[in-house]
Amino acid sequence: MLTLGIETSCDETAAALVDAQGAVLSDVVHSQVQSHARYGGVVPELASRDHLQNIVPVYRAALERAGKRLSDVSGIAVTCSPGLSGALLVGMQMAQGLSWATGLPVVGVDHLVGHLLAVFLRKPEQPPVELSFPFLALLVSGGHTALYRVDGLDLEQISELGATRDDAAGEAFDKVAKLMGLGYPGGPIVDRLAREGEPGRVPLALPMRRQGSLEFSFSGLKTNVARWIEANGPLGDDQRLRDLCASFQHNVVESLLTRTFRAVRREGLRTLVLAGGVAANRGLRERAASYAERWGVRVVVPPPAHCTDNAAMIALAGSHRLVRGENQSGQLEMSPHTRLARVTRKGAGPR
Ligand code: KG4
Ligand code: ZN
Repeated sequence: MLTLGIETSCDETAAALVDAQGAVLSDVVHSQVQSHARYGGVVPELASRDHLQNIVPVYRAALERAGKRLSDVSGIAVTCSPGLSGALLVGMQMAQGLSWATGLPVVGVDHLVGHLLAVFLRKPEQPPVELSFPFLALLVSGGHTALYRVDGLDLEQISELGATRDDAAGEAFDKVAKLMGLGYPGGPIVDRLAREGEPGRVPLALPMRRQGSLEFSFSGLKTNVARWIEANGPLGDDQRLRDLCASFQHNVVESLLTRTFRAVRREGLRTLVLAGGVAANRGLRERAASYAERWGVRVVVPPPAHCTDNAAMIALAGSHRLVRGENQSGQLEMSPHTRLARVTRKGAGPR
């Protein structure tokens, strides 16, 4: 049972072949980061055009690298939400076109469900990942920051416990990097510079210290950094830059982990999965390991290629539904919003 996964929700064009046990036969990702770098963020029109140019070569490469033909595939899984509408439609039309041409079944997958299940992906020669439900997951990426209780593979078995009220953690890293005059995406650069800095040297407020909350907020911290640069700038490639990176990263990581381990205790869970691009952050991984030791919790972090956007996680999230006989051919529905039930309202409106 082989599933073809297709992902085009943001700025990566991706296709992958995965079996129902999570073995990845191929995993092709074309990153558009160079097209968007000069704008310091993803430009939706550019993203759609880039997906259109690359979707067919990426799909062909996925079959070729796995040494398979489309006739070896049993079904197709494609990201239908959340993401940029024009970008999502490129992948969905590709999947729908393949389904009409071949009669293969197709299912629509929520990108966030893909991230949360990516922990089960493995190389064909590796044994299946030993991880049982339920587990807690911290999803931290450029577009999303939320805590989930995961009770099973289906969307209905995943509950949001709390999310960010404003910026996603990765977005905060990228915006702060821009304020410091660093490149895009800023997360990995800030992470690298933070290793040479001292967190205590730049006083920044810890975001949202409200007792007992499972919600996040990063826009205040970002403003804090902007004010500090206004008052103390301009910043060169010096020690102050490294100290600022270290202070900012320390505060983001503490804010993420205090809530995460609060949720672990509240839900009585023993396993924590980190997912999304920011899970690659060295500071976050190291601090998570020490929190985990203190609370007797197992932390599982997928390898970086499975944390960032890819189509293997989409294939995996769709494969058990295809095995069950689900088919949404002709009925795929796009949505810019996640289909997971939300508990945190984004923005400043009444709660
Ligand atoms: O999951 P992802 O590839 O794309 C989505 O947003 O869906 O995550 C990309 C985000 C970017 O904001 C990037 O700056 C951040 O993840 N990121 C990092 C690190 N590596 C990637 N943030 C902090 N530290 C890192 N090492
Ligand atoms: Zn993502």
